[in-house]
Amino acid sequence: MYRTHTCGELRIADKGKKVTLAGWVQKSRKLGGMTFIDLRDRYGITQLVVEADAAPELVATASELGREFVIQVTGEVLERESKNAKMATGDVEIKVESINVLNKSVTPPFTIEETSDGGEDLRAKYRYLDLRRPPLQRALALRHRLAHEVRNYLDSKGFMEIETPYLIKSTPEGARDFVVPSRMNPGTFYALPQSPQTFKQLLMVAGYDRYFQIVRCFRDEDLRADRQPEFTQIDCEMSFVEQEDVLGMFEGMMRQMFKNALGVDIPDPLPRMSWYDAMDSYGSDKPDVRFGMKIHDITDDVKGHGFGVFDGSEYIGAIAADGCAEYTRKQIDELTEWVKRPQVGAKGLVYIRLNADGSVKSSIDKFYTPEQLSAIAAKAEAKPGDLVLVLCGPKRKTQTQLGVLRIEMGNRLGYRDPKVFAPLWIVDFPLFEWSEEDGRFYAMHHPFTAPKPEHIDWYYSDKKEDLERVCANAYDFVLNGTELGGGSIRIHDAQMQERMFDILGISKEDAEYKFGFIINAFKFGAPPHGGLAFGFDRVCALFGGQETIRDYIAFPKNNQGRDVMIDSPSEIDQVQMDELFLASTFKK
Ligand code: AMO
Repeated sequence: MYRTHTCGELRIADKGKKVTLAGWVQKSRKLGGMTFIDLRDRYGITQLVVEADAAPELVATASELGREFVIQVTGEVLERESKNAKMATGDVEIKVESINVLNKSVTPPFTIEETSDGGEDLRAKYRYLDLRRPPLQRALALRHRLAHEVRNYLDSKGFMEIETPYLIKSTPEGARDFVVPSRMNPGTFYALPQSPQTFKQLLMVAGYDRYFQIVRCFRDEDLRADRQPEFTQIDCEMSFVEQEDVLGMFEGMMRQMFKNALGVDIPDPLPRMSWYDAMDSYGSDKPDVRFGMKIHDITDDVKGHGFGVFDGSEYIGAIAADGCAEYTRKQIDELTEWVKRPQVGAKGLVYIRLNADGSVKSSIDKFYTPEQLSAIAAKAEAKPGDLVLVLCGPKRKTQTQLGVLRIEMGNRLGYRDPKVFAPLWIVDFPLFEWSEEDGRFYAMHHPFTAPKPEHIDWYYSDKKEDLERVCANAYDFVLNGTELGGGSIRIHDAQMQERMFDILGISKEDAEYKFGFIINAFKFGAPPHGGLAFGFDRVCALFGGQETIRDYIAFPKNNQGRDVMIDSPSEIDQVQMDELFLASTFKK
């Protein structure tokens, strides 16, 4: 037997027991002839002591132990003289009687403790060592726990977990596909699924009624803190449902996850906000509603006073930054430069200082009387002591910029506490987005999303403004400024689907080539159905209080989409290239 207990298990009640532990040497130090060793496994750390008067071989073995050696020790549980309240095992230590070195280790490239001295790249290269650290162990344990909650809940509601293939044909999710050449079918390619969207709909046609899958998805897109090229979805679909049924079911799932994993109660029912309100008040379709500082439309209040920049703008909006009236000139200049960065893209920043005594000071004093400035500040819901920040330009673009500024000010003011959770549903998305550049409509979600029943007349209208008004029967689950999940009620009617392809400018032939299998399947009695998918990595990260999902994935990719540990992607040899009928056009 390698061990009688784990390294996180022993307590004062075990005093006097003879035990055997196995684990990794986190560190070892000598103190007045005694050797103290911290022995670690994934359950915790236990202190070992080799007394100065122990057998000489034992003292010699102890003194030769290096960091990350794997050892087995036997000894007696003693009460510690100086207890460590910070450690679960801090009341005891093991008086070592024998040490068996199970394996040696070369010196690790960074410290493997709660915090590490290793940089991100180095730790990525030695991910298996980083994974020994408690923060990563906690992250993966949380992930395991949440997956368990998902399966429990969905099983209790009659959902079946069904796997769908990874080698498929391009899905209509809108990102670039990762493709895999087919050796047996020269010159053709599989695509890796961006999601199992079409398969879960086919499962509904097949009568499976309630499906789910915790499934890997692949998207070749630019990476960010909350985006990986391969990520995991909790993918779900239901038959004979309306929007209300889907929202109720998955609110229930999230409620149970919050309760059982974090002990947090979320509101019942969850708040809902229309896409239009989210854009108008928060400048984002994934608003962070942990704090106010909403966006206000001040267009009518500021236009027509001779200030050319405003007079020539479609939209002028403002937020009132809490208690920031005392921002210095330098701080405001710095903020102005900040909004002008390409990531935000504003042309400039106008401010109105509403001083504590009620007086106003602004960068546009020349064009407005103090009374007018006070009225504008009031419109932005500013209180004395606030700084009103104003941006102008095309409506949605400016609202988005104000949204980014609002989040930045929220960060600076400490309003984005990761331990506070404010989930909500965003509903009533536009079904279509018009692209000025391409002169055509795009589907805001995917082309199987149904219009809201009350907007059917607009859906069949030929007028652009009618189509722009059609809302999708779609919904997103948003938490703390992150889109955690999204889905929709699907089109199950052939005529409505044809109309969709028609609006999107997808020809009959093209639709047939890309989605022929699903269009065909729908001819055999497709039930009304709908569903959604949560980004599981994002759920884990936010539950763990982090914005980056990387630590919640055992072996993630870096920002360039590389796995630096296994050095992938990498070149393949000519033989493999030939077998796959691939020619390299890439020149180094
Ligand atoms: P959608 O494209 O919105 O919907 O994806 C669902 C959720 O998946 C997460 N997500 C990601 N997480 C990490 N890295 C990525 N690159 C990434 N891309 C998306 C997000 C997102 O909310 N088939 C539809 C769902 C449906 O309609 O049922 C779909 O995939 O949290």
